[in-house]
Amino acid sequence: MAVAGSAVGLGNFLRFPGLVADPETGGGAFLVAYFVSLLLVGLPVCWVEWTLGRFGGSRGFNSSPGIFHALLGRPWGKYLGLLGFVVPVGVYFYYVVIESWCLGYAWHSFAGNLDLADPKAFAGFFAGFTGQGEDGHLLLGGGALAFFAAVFVLNFAIIYRGISGGIELVCKWGMPLLILLALILLGRVLTLGAPDPSRPELSVWNGLGHMWNPKAIATGLSNPAVWLKAASQVFFTLSVGFGVIITYASYLKPKDDVVLSGLTSSSANEFCEVALGGLITVPAAYAFLGASAVAGGTFALGFNVLPQVFAQMPMGHFFGGCFFLLLFIAAITSSLSMLQPGIAFLEEGLGLDRPRSVALLGLITAVGCTLVLWFSKDLKALATVDFWIGDIGIFLQGTLLIYVFNLGLGVERGWQQAHLGAEMRIPGIFRPILRWVTPAYLTAIFAMFLLTNLAGWNLSLASPAFAPTGPVLDLVGSADAPASPVARLAFLFLLTFLAFSALLIHLAGRRWSRRPS
Ligand code: TRP
Repeated sequence: MAVAGSAVGLGNFLRFPGLVADPETGGGAFLVAYFVSLLLVGLPVCWVEWTLGRFGGSRGFNSSPGIFHALLGRPWGKYLGLLGFVVPVGVYFYYVVIESWCLGYAWHSFAGNLDLADPKAFAGFFAGFTGQGEDGHLLLGGGALAFFAAVFVLNFAIIYRGISGGIELVCKWGMPLLILLALILLGRVLTLGAPDPSRPELSVWNGLGHMWNPKAIATGLSNPAVWLKAASQVFFTLSVGFGVIITYASYLKPKDDVVLSGLTSSSANEFCEVALGGLITVPAAYAFLGASAVAGGTFALGFNVLPQVFAQMPMGHFFGGCFFLLLFIAAITSSLSMLQPGIAFLEEGLGLDRPRSVALLGLITAVGCTLVLWFSKDLKALATVDFWIGDIGIFLQGTLLIYVFNLGLGVERGWQQAHLGAEMRIPGIFRPILRWVTPAYLTAIFAMFLLTNLAGWNLSLASPAFAPTGPVLDLVGSADAPASPVARLAFLFLLTFLAFSALLIHLAGRRWSRRPS
């Protein structure tokens, strides 16, 4: 339940619908790449991570650096776990900010404050609440600051209470409540029909078609960005590949099942992503506002477009409140899982006790969150961290994990390990997939990304001109747009954080080498 709680989050209800609705990299092609990635990468890496985590736990380690240290038995092994600390903490820098928007929106929906008359007023509310107009707006007391402070403290208060008294308790109650809220909303959306009788083409069914009908498959699949985004989304949404599951699974007993558990938590996540997230957001927005409304990007869809939709529904306060409460619950069970790998590392690596590890991680994340909150203009800092950590970092660490498994443990030994105490067997086809297909697939996608961005390759049938990815352009600048100083600063901050974390791992290594493993 805790892993499902980690997996089901904003990725399911905002990121996935946003990606599918994206006019450039979305649509049918994205869904093909997504489901291929789910089978060839998501599930196999999920089993790998559960197996490595339980294995590391049996050697007395709970964090990626520690587990890699125990598994590889080499001085450099622990550094391969660097991103297993940096990614969850780095994603937390901005994830908790969005989480606080969800709580704020739930509050304002139930209170009826979102009853704004026209789309301009909604856009203004969204921009003011999130500080998109100017830097520094939020920390000077505007918008969502109070909600942010409450949510930030709440997360650490829960983490402080430990695994069973904190994380597990919240997930045990939160997950069923979340599913209930989602089913209420799904029922509402699927019975909307065509809300405006004068425009029968704007119906839920056409909204579903807009999202799910296959179009432009060939052009889409020739674009490496589509594959990179699909594979990154699979990692992000399953919480697979970057330190969360490895830490959670390290608390299992040696004979606790990992195969069925991995499959169950992934299935629960896919149900929430495809059947709930995929059927609520986009169809509702389409039925009221049409195709152009769903193309405005992930955040605009959730926080700007959907409130307009709820405002037009009967009992909109209630349904809008339910939707944002759903988002908040989904988000908090996920953000807790971003903190636990960090806590585990600080405790076992530096020998800190719970109060000290919570204080240190609180300090680190407070600095990161301040950067995201302060540089809120156009959400530039948030988008920069999301791309370098949430897309690239996640992708790299997932790829590294499969190599560590193949070379450190070996597919044969790993296969045996995975089946200790297992409630079901992994289908045999996954043996060659784990050994050859998953590593090759991930390496190929990353090579294509590098070639398009560094060497100016153009593989895409769709866009004739060479087009590096937006966040890359922000750093280097282009002929018609100079580089963004905020993006550069955020990138520099992330590099500093990376170096600082490497130093902590170095210190941890000194402790671990004194301890018999
Ligand atoms: N899986 C979560 C979602 O879909 C996101 C998430 C949870 C995550 N834990 C994480 C992302 C750790 C990065 C790092 O929203």
